Amino acid sequence: MQDAVVTCFGDAYAGIDPELRPATRPEFGHLQSNLPLRLAGPLGLPPREIGTRLIDAVDLDDVGTLELAGAGFLNLTWSPGVLGAAVGDLLTDPHLGVPTPESPQRVVVDYSSPNVAKQMHVGHLRSTVIGDSLARVLTYAGHDVVRQNHLGDWGTQFGMLVEELLGEGFSDPRGVAALDMAELLALYQRAKARFDDDPGFAGSARRRVVALQSGDPTTLALWQALVDASMAEFDATYSRLGVLLTDDDFDGESRYNPQLPGIVEDLRALALLTESAGAQVVYPDGFTGRDGAPLPLIVRKADGGFGYAATDLATIRHRVDDLAVDRVVYVVDHRQSQHFDMVFAVARAAGWLPDSVEVQHIGFGTVLGPDGRPFKTRSGETVTLTSLLDDAEEAVAARYDNPEVVRAVANAAVKYADLSNHLARDYAFDLARMSATTGETGPYLQYAHARVCSILAQAPGATYVIGTLTHPAEQRLALELAGFAPVVAKVAETLEPHHLTAYLYGLATALTAFYESCPVLKAKDEVRQTRLALCETTRRVLSEGLGLLGIEAPQRM
Ligand code: ARG
Repeated sequence: MQDAVVTCFGDAYAGIDPELRPATRPEFGHLQSNLPLRLAGPLGLPPREIGTRLIDAVDLDDVGTLELAGAGFLNLTWSPGVLGAAVGDLLTDPHLGVPTPESPQRVVVDYSSPNVAKQMHVGHLRSTVIGDSLARVLTYAGHDVVRQNHLGDWGTQFGMLVEELLGEGFSDPRGVAALDMAELLALYQRAKARFDDDPGFAGSARRRVVALQSGDPTTLALWQALVDASMAEFDATYSRLGVLLTDDDFDGESRYNPQLPGIVEDLRALALLTESAGAQVVYPDGFTGRDGAPLPLIVRKADGGFGYAATDLATIRHRVDDLAVDRVVYVVDHRQSQHFDMVFAVARAAGWLPDSVEVQHIGFGTVLGPDGRPFKTRSGETVTLTSLLDDAEEAVAARYDNPEVVRAVANAAVKYADLSNHLARDYAFDLARMSATTGETGPYLQYAHARVCSILAQAPGATYVIGTLTHPAEQRLALELAGFAPVVAKVAETLEPHHLTAYLYGLATALTAFYESCPVLKAKDEVRQTRLALCETTRRVLSEGLGLLGIEAPQRM
């Protein structure tokens, strides 16, 4: 089509996207384009005349037919053999048509990243679910993905926590490492209360931070025990959610502590550092506050402590220099977008982040409660991830006998709802809607998958061979199946999982339409074989596609 545009209207239109979209109605063929309408203005010609000239110039051989419709639409209808062959290709390809990239990239996905001695909350749920899906899609698209869980395991709060532990007579790190989340939280609250009320305690907590940073063995051992206790809790949540993160992916802030003084020195040597009210800061170009004054990125605080920004700068250097990444994807709440923009700008200015390395902050919106306000418990606290998953399981528990299915469906409800929105958008956590078995939900897609599995199970030993696709519902299903590889590529490129959720929903809808008009098991001979082959291909695409969202696809529900 692009060649035809050039043939008809010259090089000025080379590379124009014909924007062939799935047809909105069967009588429009398989794909439709409004290209003649779009070109009418620039060319100064009637759209239908442009359409006629394009149709004459396009050489489709016998792969399909192109027709002019309405005010100037082009409708493309593939010949049945083309669609059948496309499904046949998928059927024999273990990778479902997704090509291996010519030059695979090494990509860090920085996600989940909860904070030690605190609960994971609903914001960490989003980071965990989105990051996990992106890691899976990028891997499937052939890239070399390094998952990094940038745990908040360092900072001044540990002075207070360790001081509280010692004050309470906890000197054995083993006892501390065995604390569960409720105990860790209670400890945090006791420490915080004393820190706020008792100036003597606050002073020793600050000295304890210095002891931690300078590597005092007793302090370090208790700090490590706190980290271990939290990691065990996080791991339990990851396995419950069925995400890929393991202990090997922990890449906590503490790891960068030894590099922090060097960050400050190097920035000073590059003449990027300025002192502001005792703090060491950088003013990256192009960042101003509401009052128009330049915005500082604080690298070292006035009290000598290093901030979150210093750690993120050190992290970038590690990823570029040691991991040799091509791309870094940060999956973090959109409220941190200015932090990342400034960190990236400083890292570029310092020469630590070459132009060849792409860094992207995937900022996501807030999860809202049913009242449309940020999700809080009745007593006004942030909702913890565990309580939210408990609620999701409770919402579906009565439907199934098998506890594994309960968990798989609850996770599907939560994950699909999270991934099917534009990431930047806030969304309301509405369990009744998310867990419904009809409508655009995770459980609905799991049912579509289980149903196709049950049909295939009733034809054991069948060989899957695609013959001619004669029925429009077969053709529509085939067309949807052929869309799998493009949508995987699109998500790998845009990092927007909602394209994949929408695709799978469209596929499940086409599958339903196919069942309604095309009997499978009762059909005869070649028709039966072809329809079973369509079912098998759909089963694989649904299962693989849900897998890329981190959603399990049970065979029976
Ligand atoms: N621990 C941080 C939080 O809970 C998120 C860290 C994100 N990653 C990073 N490289 N800064 O808000």
